[in-house]
Amino acid sequence: MAKPAPPCTLVIFGATGDLTRRLLMPAFYNLSRWSLLPEGFAIIGVGRSEITPDAMRADLTEAMRGFVADKGGELAEKGLDTEAWDRVVVRLDYVRGDVADVETYAEIGRRVAANGAGGGSALFYLAVAASLFGPIVKLIGEAGLAREEDGAFRRVIIEKPFGHDLDSARALNRDVLGVLSEKQVFRIDHFLGKETVQNIMAFRFGNGFFEPMWHRDRIDHVQITVAEAVGVEGRGVFYDATGAMRDMVPNHLFQLFTLIAMDPPISFAADAVRDKKEEVLASVRPLDEKAAVRDAVRAQYTAGSVGGKTVRDYRAEANVDPRSTTETYVALKLVIDNWRWAGVPFYLRTGKSMTRRDTEIAIQFKQAPLALFRETGMDEQVPNWLVLQIQPDEGISLQFGAKIPGPKVALDQVTMGFKYRDYFKVDPSTGYETLIYDAMVGDATLYQRADNIEGGWQVVQPVLDAWAALAAPMARYPAGSAGPKEADELLARDGRSWRPL
Ligand code: BG6
Repeated sequence: MAKPAPPCTLVIFGATGDLTRRLLMPAFYNLSRWSLLPEGFAIIGVGRSEITPDAMRADLTEAMRGFVADKGGELAEKGLDTEAWDRVVVRLDYVRGDVADVETYAEIGRRVAANGAGGGSALFYLAVAASLFGPIVKLIGEAGLAREEDGAFRRVIIEKPFGHDLDSARALNRDVLGVLSEKQVFRIDHFLGKETVQNIMAFRFGNGFFEPMWHRDRIDHVQITVAEAVGVEGRGVFYDATGAMRDMVPNHLFQLFTLIAMDPPISFAADAVRDKKEEVLASVRPLDEKAAVRDAVRAQYTAGSVGGKTVRDYRAEANVDPRSTTETYVALKLVIDNWRWAGVPFYLRTGKSMTRRDTEIAIQFKQAPLALFRETGMDEQVPNWLVLQIQPDEGISLQFGAKIPGPKVALDQVTMGFKYRDYFKVDPSTGYETLIYDAMVGDATLYQRADNIEGGWQVVQPVLDAWAALAAPMARYPAGSAGPKEADELLARDGRSWRPL
């Protein structure tokens, strides 16, 4: 059983924003239900809105009631556990202030000191626009709020996107590490908060059977898919300036990629795990200009329908440039130049407005060395897949060939499957619970280190450069499809095909 986190004050910049309402407050609620919040815990919301602390509490309580009542939602429950929620809400206060104003930080300092039971420890959560990460950290430093004294900790959680490209990520790391030491910085990637993502390590390193086959001798290739049914969902301003590559690939997809490709760490300590992830990124063969065009596909969705709902052309979405050249889909082939993976391609794809939501990692094993059954030619062999289904319907399955009953010897593909829900009762959660708890206890295993962030950008930067130079065409796919035909061609060139969604 996990113990309650140590006492501290949590300071949320961007307290009246969507992230706080939708994810952070529900996460505190769950931590409270699971008895993981310490006595001496306080939350200080910081924002520019003219609201009273009481109005803020009432507003967030209303929102929480809505989340638990939402039948299809991630937090659907019979009703709000008011006792658990009250424990959060009574500890919640609000500081109205501009994040560019030094006085705001002086006030925060006074509030942290006033929470005597918090022991002077503070965790700052930057739930604000990315352009404010650097400036806020700087002012935290100047106000003396980053100083760790008398055993108290001072830590900062930084949301994504961490940088817009390699140069800006490096600059942000430089700014942040000019104020804080690496162990005070917690760069979030919410994919690491997902149980099924964490389970990749448990599956690989907690079991003895697959690891001996986890390399180039036995694995043919790997496919990583993060297909989303949702479109830009009112985030046109952010999305059109960002695109699928920056939004998803160097962060979320690379979490899956590195967890699958990394070598066993010497322990599960934060740096041991992050060292191994870093090695993977550093061994990805750099894409030269030609490869950046050849091995990456970008595409935009056109009008179509997803789950019976009509979807407009991406360029007709609100706050999207009618001549936008922002991609809503990316497919990428990566090659890792190390002993484990030489010659094993990793194909990654992600897109908005696709057929359905489907996040999976599929590993295809090499075929049997010869076809024993005369009627079955080598090309008719059934591929052997290990599939880690991340969401929805979390589970792990093995797909292999079995004999079709009857006098003729012929094989068909069958599936052996494990579903989480058949074994574990999972409390409804946002995925932020573990991450916030870990930051409070100072465990950075599920957070990104500076070099992990830069390593991710380093891999995709040549593609971003090629696209910015308009050197690669923009493919199209109808909303509700599995992606553009150009992505199929990327695999067809290697004699392979994507798994159907
Ligand atoms: C976010 C992206 O980081 O991750 C979104 O900005 C994306 O565009 C989301 O939809 C996907 O996360 P999840 O948890 O819904 O799979």
